[in-house]
Amino acid sequence: MTATAPAASRAAEILSRPIALNGLTVPNRIAMAPMTRMFSPGGVPGEDVLSYYARRAAAGVGLIVTEGTYVGHASAGQSDRVPRFHGEEQLAGWAKVADAVHAAGGTIVPQLWHIGMVRKQGEPPFADAPAVGPSGIRVDGTEGGGKAMTQRDLDDVIGAFAEAAAAAERIGFDGVELHGAHGYLLDQFLWAGTNRRTDAYGGDPVARTKFAAEIVAAVRETVSPDFPVIFRYSQWKQEAYDARLAETPQELEAILAPLTAAGVDAFHASTRRYWLPEFDGSDLNLAGWTKKLTGRPTLTVGSVGLDGDFLRAFAGEGAAVGSIDNLLDRLERDEFDMVAVGRALLQDPQWAAKVLGNRIEELQPYDAAALKTLS
Ligand SMILES: Cc1cc2nc3c(=O)[nH]c(=O)nc-3n(C[C@H](O)[C@H](O)[C@H](O)COP(=O)(O)O)c2cc1C
Repeated sequence: MTATAPAASRAAEILSRPIALNGLTVPNRIAMAPMTRMFSPGGVPGEDVLSYYARRAAAGVGLIVTEGTYVGHASAGQSDRVPRFHGEEQLAGWAKVADAVHAAGGTIVPQLWHIGMVRKQGEPPFADAPAVGPSGIRVDGTEGGGKAMTQRDLDDVIGAFAEAAAAAERIGFDGVELHGAHGYLLDQFLWAGTNRRTDAYGGDPVARTKFAAEIVAAVRETVSPDFPVIFRYSQWKQEAYDARLAETPQELEAILAPLTAAGVDAFHASTRRYWLPEFDGSDLNLAGWTKKLTGRPTLTVGSVGLDGDFLRAFAGEGAAVGSIDNLLDRLERDEFDMVAVGRALLQDPQWAAKVLGNRIEELQPYDAAALKTLS
């Protein structure tokens, strides 16, 4: 027996358990984290995007969360190479992606996205529309030509998310993930730094959650009752790594409770290092707290398989932070339910097969060159 065998078997055993997200049974606990790739000219995911996702599903990723894909609103995005989740050609491309992932044995949800005040100069078809957000303020605190959303704008964006979710169900996806993280539109409402509204959509955490909760409710109403709605959120922002939505579990609960009541089936708690405790006095990470506060299944994410410790643990050196044993311990005690893997899966499409199949020594360390292609 090699030194790596016992830990790898434990990985297979714990990660291979199916998990229910509302009406969907995901075959195992490994998800692909959503990653913008910009390989979809005209917003249409083509054959290369299809095989990129299908390859990872075939290698054992149980749930693919697609890269962020723009909902049908004039200000939703800025790049013509980011896939769109509206329009005939775009949705036809996505339908083929979903079919290919299913044929490979996986499940797939699109990540529905509106970038809000992150929008700068746009390419067609986004060139002319203004950046919109709760208060016309960017994540860095500047104004830069943005526009505070009117009630009409809010209603339009809510409608755009609901339409995209309906399209996802119609063309064969297994659920949807709403992008409420990283300083984009929904997070701009959740975060006091960008939400200075004095109407019903601004003020305390519950009021700041109203817009996201209305989107969840509209999506919920549009899709079948058993169609899973996942909500991704984060404390950190793309342009403010130290920003926080909630300083205490009580503040976090004020945000998560209305989202849960509106119909979220699972939360994807985005952190940059999954092993860090979220609040003082407990080892629970953000996904752990989210599960404890909402009772919903959660996905964790953040540097899984990137740290050298991940591999070292398989050599029998114990459950160090960042090691797979640490991750498996947490899964085993139901701190959270699934683990999303980002960069390690870009580097190595076979990552899940190697982790599940006792071939850890074949994993390749992450190199940013992996971002350059869709291999
Ligand atoms: C190239 C790249 C693109 C990303 N795009 C998105 C995105 O579209 N939506 C999103 O929610 N997160 C996005 N993320 C964040 C990832 O989903 C994930 O949370 C992050 O990479 C941490 O996981 P990792 O350490 O396993 O890579 C992106 C990350 C990378 C590296």
